[in-house]
Amino acid sequence: MTQDELKQLVAAEAAAYVNAHVPEGSVIGVGTGTTANCFIDAIASVKSRYRGAVSSSVASSARLQAHGFKVLELNEIESLPVYVDGADEIDPHGAMIKGGGGALTREKIVASVADVFLCIADESKRVGVLGTFPLPVEVIPMARTAIGRRIAALGAVPVLRVQQDGLPFVTDNGNEIIDVKGLKIADPLALEVELNAWPGVVTVGLFAARGANLCLLGTSSGVETITYAR
Ligand code: 5RP
Repeated sequence: MTQDELKQLVAAEAAAYVNAHVPEGSVIGVGTGTTANCFIDAIASVKSRYRGAVSSSVASSARLQAHGFKVLELNEIESLPVYVDGADEIDPHGAMIKGGGGALTREKIVASVADVFLCIADESKRVGVLGTFPLPVEVIPMARTAIGRRIAALGAVPVLRVQQDGLPFVTDNGNEIIDVKGLKIADPLALEVELNAWPGVVTVGLFAARGANLCLLGTSSGVETITYAR
């Protein structure tokens, strides 16, 4: 199977999981990226089962609305039974690197409210140790260079994310992203806590404090369901 087919496979499984476990009339949390897009497409046929969705990006909100989903603000809701999203890497403990699509801040906020974080990914995302995928860090633009120096002092390489026209990539929140190369993240929670404390860091794309509860991983031999102790 191709990577795209694996994404569609796990997205369909995730839709079946949500339909089976989430009470009718609930609001569901929806992530960002190509795998999350497959999930949006897969769950659209039963949208009337849900009150609506809270989304982690402008792009996902637009896709949900195009399918006729009601998109709610996080401030409008009291609880979220599930948040479904992809990952750039996931380790054996359910800690993830996220933010390859630039939506890490809203992803972390929505995930923090959800009872269950359901990660959907193809098997290329499974790693023993996080860090081969450059770690996205959303920063306030005026802090970009200062934060870059601190990253270099850790022995890693800060790379400002740019768009095709060469200008800095700007997040939905009006900030910039530094992609950190050259990390081998033995203790994801410790690094998340450390980087979170740096002035100017908005969000670090490490999801260790709030990792996945469950992962549906698309492999060549089918969908593997992995649960994590939390
Ligand atoms: C976006 C994300 C995505 O979940 C992550 O980049 C995986 O994306 P894809 O499903 O396209 O491989 O964190 O900010």
